[in-house]
Amino acid sequence: MGDSPDRSAGARHVAIIMDGNGRWAKKRALPRSIGHQRGVEAVRRLVRALEPMGLDCLTLYAFSSENWKRSEDEVDDLMNLMRKFIKSDLPEFVANGVKLKIIGDWQSLAPDIVAMLEDALAQTANGTQTLAVALNYGAQNEIARAAVKAAETGAITTESITAQLDTSDLPPLDLLIRTSGEIRLSNFLLWQAAYAEMLFVDTLWPDFKPEHLSQALNDFAQRERRYGGR
Ligand code: IPE
Ligand code: IPE
Ligand code: MG
Repeated sequence: MGDSPDRSAGARHVAIIMDGNGRWAKKRALPRSIGHQRGVEAVRRLVRALEPMGLDCLTLYAFSSENWKRSEDEVDDLMNLMRKFIKSDLPEFVANGVKLKIIGDWQSLAPDIVAMLEDALAQTANGTQTLAVALNYGAQNEIARAAVKAAETGAITTESITAQLDTSDLPPLDLLIRTSGEIRLSNFLLWQAAYAEMLFVDTLWPDFKPEHLSQALNDFAQRERRYGGR
């Protein structure tokens, strides 16, 4: 990856809808919780590969505002995995210059998770590559919150809404990837995706490797972005 510096030509910000943990587990007759554990390992592999990829920002959809509809056990599993992941990987983020960012209504998660995240944000504040994690995130809610804030400070315009989104300090979204073969956005980055390139792959999230992202960046580099012009 490091030997082809032009690979991610132009791609600064990639977002991924990490889908397919449950189906990965089901195929192996394992509980969904194991699929989620293996999903965390896929995240870890990717974050470790961030630097050679040369991205400014990777945004990962970890828990949607609709995922509360799942069983209490599954939600608990996901929240516990979150706690474990932050605890185990935070030192590595700090050492590797990964700057954590959280988008979504994360302040309403369990108080201990909010405290862990606040600590992680503070400890990684000087990082150079951003790992943005969408937690309790729903794009429609993000846009509605942004519109309210925009109205409080002046006129509602596309610019003023953009400036109030949770992603306002991130580079524009270049590429949006969804794994597991589903072709929908499931309330993820609806505003930011206006002119993002999209890539839907069949790979189930626990099987997703840095090589897949590398391939996606190659694919992205071949695309012609037009933004409505010619
Ligand atoms: C993605 O995998 C993880 C989360 C949504 C938290 P799923 O749990 O949605 O896996 P499938 O879609 O059931 O296979
Ligand atoms: C989207 O996946 C949310 C995350 C990946 C966190 P879902 O599995 O929840 O989406 P749907 O239900 O298939 O649309
Ligand atoms: Mg799913």
